This record gives sequence, C-alpha cells and structure tokens, in this order.
Amino acid sequence: MKINQLAFLFCALLAACSGSEQSSEVTFNDQIKSIYDLGGSQYQKLASNISTNQFPKTFENNKVQTSGSGWWCSGFYPGTLLYLFEETGDSALLNLATEKLLELEKEQYNTTTHDLGFMMFCSFGNAYRITSNPTYKEIIYQSSKSLITRFDSTIGCIRSWDAAPWNDQWQYPVIIDNMMNLEMLLWAAEEFNDSTFAEIAKTHANTTLKNHYREDFSSYHVISYDTITGEVEKRNTSQGYADESAWARGQAWGLYGFTIMYRFTKDETYLNQARSIAKFLLNHPNLPEDKVPYWDFNAPDIPNTKRDASAGAIIASALLELSEYVDQPLSDEYLTVAETMLKTLSNQDYLANQGEIGGFLLKHSVGHMPNGTEVDVPLSYADYYYIEALKRYQNLK
Ligand code: GLY
Repeated sequence: MKINQLAFLFCALLAACSGSEQSSEVTFNDQIKSIYDLGGSQYQKLASNISTNQFPKTFENNKVQTSGSGWWCSGFYPGTLLYLFEETGDSALLNLATEKLLELEKEQYNTTTHDLGFMMFCSFGNAYRITSNPTYKEIIYQSSKSLITRFDSTIGCIRSWDAAPWNDQWQYPVIIDNMMNLEMLLWAAEEFNDSTFAEIAKTHANTTLKNHYREDFSSYHVISYDTITGEVEKRNTSQGYADESAWARGQAWGLYGFTIMYRFTKDETYLNQARSIAKFLLNHPNLPEDKVPYWDFNAPDIPNTKRDASAGAIIASALLELSEYVDQPLSDEYLTVAETMLKTLSNQDYLANQGEIGGFLLKHSVGHMPNGTEVDVPLSYADYYYIEALKRYQNLK
C-alpha cells in the first residue's frame, strides 16, 4: 500500500473512532506528518530523475521536465528539499539540496531577471536559516545587489522582463509576481544594515499598490510604464484570461507580497492592502467550496475549466501568515479557509501517490494557459508553497 493511501486509512480510522471536532484536527495533523514522509520519498525520486545542472519544473509527457539554473523556478526544488529535511530530519534531503545550491550559486550575478528573490531566497534563504553558513548569506547579499540594478527611480519599480521580440509591446513591463522578490531585499536590508534595499522594496510596493490594483482589489498582471515620464502606458495580462480578468496566481502573488511587506515594515498600508486582497479572493463567487481556485477567477468556462493548485498553495500560505496580523474573527476566517485549501490539496485528487508524477507532490496546476504550456500539471512552486503552508499550519495549531 502507498504512503498516502495508508495515511488516509489511518485518518479514516481515527475519524471513525471519535466524533469530536478536536479529533478531526488531530487527524489532519497526523496526515501532515505522513505527507512530509511522502514528500521526502517523492523528492528523492525526483532527484533520481534529473542530472547535474538541471532543475525540475514539471512532469509532462510522462517525463520530468527541467530547466537550467537561470529559470525563475530554479530555487523551488532546493527550497522544498530543505523544508522536507526540516520536517523529516532525513540528511539525504539536505545533501541533495546542498549539491543543487552549488549549481545555483552563480545566479547571484544574474542581472537579467527580476526573479532573483524566488531563485535565491527560497533556496539560499532557507539554507542560511537552517545552517547559518555565512557563504549562503553573502550569496543573498550579492543576489540583492544584482536585483536592485533593475530598479528605475523615475518609474519607482524593479523592471520585470527585459526587451525581447515576444514582449515588444511594452516599454517597461512590471508584473504582479515581482512583489515576491521583495522579501529578499527586506531581509538583506536588515541583515546588512543597508536601507537602500528596503527603500527600493518599499518604493516598488507603493508603485504596485497604486497602479496594479483595481477598485475591487483585484490585480492586473502586467503594468507597463513609459520610460520617459514614468507614467502607466498599458494595463495587460500575459498569463491570465484577459487584460481585465483576475489571473489566480497573480492574485496569490499580490496577497503574499503585501503580507511580507507588512511583516518587515509594520506599515498598516500594506496590512490593509493584504486584507483587501484577501476579502476580494475569499468572497469571490467563483472561488469553489473546496477553496482551490480556477486558474483565472474570470475564466469564461468556469466550472468546466482547470484549477490551479499552485494558486491555492500560495494563497493558503499567505493567509496563514496574515491570520497572525489581524484580529478575530478575521484571523479565524483566514485560518479556516487555508485549512480547507490544504485539506483539498491533501486529498487524492491532488496529492500524488508514492512513485507517481516523477516525484512531484501536487497535481493540477496551470503554468501558462494562454500559451497552452504547463496546463494541468505538477509545478515545482506548487509543491514549495504547499509544504511551506503545511509547516505554517502546524505552527499555528
Ligand atoms: N511568472 C511566474 C508565474 O507563472 O507565476
């Protein structure tokens, strides 16, 4: 019998033996422990499916698909290994992560991407937190210096995509995803006592708050700026259904990003923004009962369209942190919704059986629907934020 089938049997048995609410929480906590074990075993399998200098992205066409270290997702695999090492104590997972970090470290000098926070902080940030290895700290410092080379003070934002034939419609594109790269800068500002990092992060967040958000607190995906005047020139999407739609993962990045901004700054503006985004999401008529969003809140074929497990995992993780910054009854509401999301993601529709999907954990995410790429597949970042959310959930319970 597979590990997660065993876990289900165990949970069903516990639930049958007791009708109390407390026992069902115990049940989910027990299941979470078995999910970490499943994760450890899956990620060792994933490791066996990739070679040196390859980073797992997804599982498609019956094969683990990989990227080089320069792809925006390269930090999630070592980051997930590190989270799983913390929960299982299995040093094989730490060793695998450490090997991959050596292949990733050259990206600290990469100034061609805004994704350095994802790449270098989900990986080296966790590695430093766990090991206190000073080399990792210096890598984060250099990565932060590389990232801020992309800041333009007239516009007040870190540039997302550099000019390329596929994006020549935009002078200076900034995507909502970029909020996620600010955590590394805020952390570096504190660790290296360098307020430049924090000022740039705050300016980027303030500009995003002003220009990316609609009146209902849904977010555009791409805002492009005029490079001379610094004014908004276009409001578009790239990965969403339409320019005016609410692409699910974009909403998730924004919620998580403004929650981080509040964590570091304690500026109520960011807390209010995160609360308003959460209100938009949690009250949206297209958010299903089981709380895992469709890939776009305005997809025209809802309910006959794909869910995005990655958006669910990111929103769950953000809500769990946000629940610590607000009073009841809001904190209870965030906790309850996050719990429902995590329970849904932990059921057999979403969670892999041991040995399945190349070693990833979660099925049913959507990478880029308009391109028709990575549709209804596992994704390395869905796993990362899922495990992070489970850890946060356990810490709160
Ligand atoms: N561009 C990052 C994402 O797909 O969310």
